[in-house]
Parts: sequence; structure tokens; C-alpha cells
Amino acid sequence: MDNVLRLDSGFAFDFSNLFGPGRVTQEDVASVAAKLAAAHSAVERMRATGVVEGHLSKDGAPELVLFTQLPYVQEGNLNTPSSVRRLLSFGEGLRHHTDAVVSFGIGGSFLGNKVLFDVQCGEFWNSKDTQARNGWPKCYFSGNNIDPRRTSELLAQLLAEAKSKAASGSYAEPYRVLLIVISKSGATLDTMSTFMVMLDALQAQAPQIEVAVAVVTGPPVAGEPTLLGRLAEERNWPVFAVPDGVGGRFSVFSEVGLLLGACVGFDIEAFLAGARSMDEACRTPEVRRNPALWNAALKYLAAQRCGCRTEIFMPYGDYLKSTAEWYVQLLAESLGKRLDRTGREVHYGRTPVVAVGTTDMHAQTQLHQDGPRDKVVQFVQVDRWAEDPLIPDLFPAVPKLTEISGLPMSRALDAALASNATALAADGRLTATFHLPEMNAFHLGELLYILALSIAYEGELAGVDAFDQPGVEAYKKILGPLLQEQRRVRTGC
Ligand code: PA5
Repeated sequence: MDNVLRLDSGFAFDFSNLFGPGRVTQEDVASVAAKLAAAHSAVERMRATGVVEGHLSKDGAPELVLFTQLPYVQEGNLNTPSSVRRLLSFGEGLRHHTDAVVSFGIGGSFLGNKVLFDVQCGEFWNSKDTQARNGWPKCYFSGNNIDPRRTSELLAQLLAEAKSKAASGSYAEPYRVLLIVISKSGATLDTMSTFMVMLDALQAQAPQIEVAVAVVTGPPVAGEPTLLGRLAEERNWPVFAVPDGVGGRFSVFSEVGLLLGACVGFDIEAFLAGARSMDEACRTPEVRRNPALWNAALKYLAAQRCGCRTEIFMPYGDYLKSTAEWYVQLLAESLGKRLDRTGREVHYGRTPVVAVGTTDMHAQTQLHQDGPRDKVVQFVQVDRWAEDPLIPDLFPAVPKLTEISGLPMSRALDAALASNATALAADGRLTATFHLPEMNAFHLGELLYILALSIAYEGELAGVDAFDQPGVEAYKKILGPLLQEQRRVRTGC
């Protein structure tokens, strides 16, 4: 049987270096057949009803898990044709009108948005003029840390842009900035503190700067809107939804990700179509034909049988680095658990590590090749690049440089990945590769969705709740009183 699982879309999962003698074996898989069947049934049940056995919200109440509904727009689940139209028309309304968007959020309210931005816009978006951006606004991120220097510098940047707009002669036109504040709970310290600093300072520059605000927040709790929802109601800010049952790390397929995408011209419909296509490919109970279940099974068994308790997520391409960062949260928060569902201490989890090829071949690969045999390296390869400069024969007298001349850059990149994978495999190191036919919204939807669904399956295999994060409450219980104390000391009240 082929060791590559290919979908009709061209997306492929190559597990040749993860499965077989000396790796995860057929016998390993057979030994957990009952668990795999149960994991498949549990995820089917979650799809149909939202019920995940034993899953409770942080308040201890049973909570549905509904992220698998998000791609099914036509069926009118959580995203509907009209909600998508609203997003598209909101984004379109910014074109040739709003100069910059600042997206505030942290964790699940930031990481997925950065992925969409990077794939759509790349590194130099904000240095391009409006025409080169096709009329879409510039885009900045904030709130993903409480960093005083970066917050001040972002503010200074916006003020400088406003000044330069005014100096360019369009005095009648204010500099228009939209602040998108994203918080499911509606009160996250990091997000709200940076938002308040920025809103206050920008509003002080009226009428040269015109500030608008849009909010993405969770539903009312016990009839009460979230704090952010209440502010939006009082101030008439447009509100978009983080639906009940969609946790932060799964929310890139909800209005959390879609709104930001719509504001920079990212094809949110193709993105959801890619997620849907992956979901449909993952319905079969045949483990080796179900890409997410097979990925989960191999990673689970690589940990249990081969001691691989670290996963290096290594896309080959700069603009996929944020995908690795998004995956770090998904894997760490979902599977890093003290207790299993029976209450037994298991300390389950696999440590996720961000790497980028070829960059980290000059930094981490030494460790992957010669260090502890506790890693699985998950590569991501883009098969066709929209832009692909030819490496010229610029110095024909230098043999070392002529060796690579005449090659498109993508060939050199692919060769680097292939040589890395081959060298690791030759030493019995475990690796796998996801292939994206192209770096576009559809295939990105497939990639993020296979990763999200794999986590749901692995939670079932490991017997842990992949949808809670009780561990983050520990520091929050300390931080709240600490801040109150500091405020009391500073202000006297
Ligand atoms: O995945 C999660 O639940 C977290 O990372 C949250 O997204 C993060 O803490 C931000 O929370 P909120 O959206 O409530 O501001």
C-alpha cells in the first residue's frame, strides 16, 4: 500500500518515514484498533451532536464542541451564507476608505488571524501603497502581549502615517483606522489593556484621525453580554461572533479569523471550502484513508511506542511560520493534560516546536539529527509557487555557484527538504510531510482543518479532554490579585 494519502484536491500526507519497520508498525496500529474505532465514533458523535464525553467549560458546566460545523456554510450552521455576506461586505467597505486595521487579540484570538494575514499579505504589505494593496487597508496586530515598547511604537507608526497622509495634501481626508477587538471572554487583560491605550491615544488626535471599532466576542453568559459586548452595545460598535462551543484555538474558521481575512481580501469562502473538503475526507472509519485519524494515530503511536514526545512543525516557507505558531497553541493547550477522563494522572502531551525550512536547517537540524530520539518532524511542503525566480548563472567561473544556477528557487527549497528528510530517515528518525499543491486559501483551509481534527482524534486516543485548558487558570488566580495590589499601591485605591 502506498505510504502517501492523496486527496482529490492534490493535498497529500506522506507518512513514508513515520510508518513501517523501525517506525510505527502495522502491529502497533493493530494493537490499538479498538481505540481507533472508538475515536472515530466519538468524533462522529461530536460532529452530529457537539457532545464530547466529559467535556466541561471552565465554569464546570457541560459544553458542546462545535468547530466541525464551521465549514458547512450552505447548511446554515454557525457560519451561514448571510453571515459570510456580511463579513465580505464589511471588508469591502474598508477598501479605498480605511487606511489601517489594527487587530487586537491573544492566543486563539490572534494566532489564526496572523496565519491568514501572512499567507494573504506577506511581510511587506504595510510598506506597499494603496494601489499595490488593491485598496485594502494596512494591517497591524496588537494585544498579543502587554509589551510597552511595541505598543508605543505601533502608536507612533499610526501617528506618523496620519501625519504623512495629511502632508500628502489630502487635508480634508482624515487618517481612518479600524480597531478590531477580539476576545471570546470579552475581558482578557492583554487585549483590553493595549486596546484602551491605543483607542485613547488615537481618539485624542481627532479630527486628523478617525477611529472606528469593531468587536468579535462570545455570546452573553447567563443573559449578560461579555464586557466587550456591553461596551459595543453602548457605543454602537459592530459586533461579530465567537460562537458558543468554539474554543479559541479552533476559532480561525469562525468570525474571529474570517473578519480579519475579509478586511485584507483573503478568500474566506475558499478557506472554508478547503476546511469542508478536508472534513468530508475525514469521515471514513477506514483509518488509513482518513487523513486526520491516520495522522493522529501515527503521532499517538510515535509517542507511545517510539518515545517521540516532541513534535517539530517545520514548514518550508517563511509565510507558514505563523502556521507553526498556531499549531503550537493547538497541540499544547489541547493535549497537554494532567488528568485523563477517569481522573488518573497521566501528564499527557507532546511538546510542539516551531521550525522553518530552510532557516532551521542551520539552527535546529543538528539536534533533530543527532540529539535525543524523542522527536517527530512534521514537514509542510508547497508543491507549486506562484512566484519562483530562477537562480541566475551570475558567476560562471565559480563552480560552487554554477551548481545551483539555472534552478528555480522552489527546486532548491524542495531539494533541501528532501535531503533533510532522507538524512533523518537514514538514521531512523521519524518524519512526515503535508503537501499543499499551492499556498492559497483553499489548501490553507485543508491544512489548518486536518490539524484541528487530528487533535480531536488524538484527545480520544489518549483519553484526555482536548477542549479544555484548566492549567492556565493556575497563573490567572495569582495574576488577578497581584494586579489589584499593584494598582492599590500606585493609586491608593
Ligand atoms: O484557546 C484559547 O482558549 C485561548 O488561547 C484564548 O483564545 C485566549 O486566552 C484569549 O481569550 P479571549 O478570546 O477570551 O480573549
